[in-house]
Amino acid sequence: MLNLILFGPPGSGKGTQAIKLVEKYHLLHISTGDLLRSELKAGTPLGLEAKKYINKGELVPDEVVIGMISSQLDQNIDKVKGFIFDGFPRTRAQAEALDKLLDFKNTSISQVLALDVSEDEVVARILNRGKTSGRSDDNDQEIIKNRFQVYLNETTAVAEHYREVNKFTAIPGEGSIDEVFEALQNAIDTL
Ligand code: C5P
Ligand code: MG
Repeated sequence: MLNLILFGPPGSGKGTQAIKLVEKYHLLHISTGDLLRSELKAGTPLGLEAKKYINKGELVPDEVVIGMISSQLDQNIDKVKGFIFDGFPRTRAQAEALDKLLDFKNTSISQVLALDVSEDEVVARILNRGKTSGRSDDNDQEIIKNRFQVYLNETTAVAEHYREVNKFTAIPGEGSIDEVFEALQNAIDTL
């Protein structure tokens, strides 16, 4: 299997690039943010619980998102060539849990591809996306700032975790969509 983690701060282009990568490599895109937002829209108990965190830019507890990922793996692992994880793992505990879940399925993470984008650039991109995304967390400077802060405080540990096992590749993320896609393809094709 080809199991990729698309890594990077909020607004770094993970979702945009995941769509293009799916088209080329026929992987299943799992975005935990999208999954949480669809639970929220459907008004499920999980969605209502998640809303409290999303609207502050905080992280939904590890056990909740790990449970979601576990059920996605169970449902899809026999049907796909691999996965693109987008927006997960977001903590070291989530990374360790993901490694274990994949190990149970006799597979593993192939590589983490990390989009390098500065804070100023992600804030500008998110505010721009907020004009059309309908996401309450894309429209408030304070929430956006907190999301970036949470990324620095909790999520950069995920990069460390995969660097330790040489599965981490940084990709310049400030070029055009096509330039970034090109760089991602080059990284994948040399795996
Ligand atoms: O990944 P995305 O930026 O779409 O996530 C939006 C929000 O959803 C995050 O700010 C966070 O509140 C929540 N989330 C989370 N844990 C994840 C993915 C998303 O808490 N693994
Ligand atoms: Mg996203």
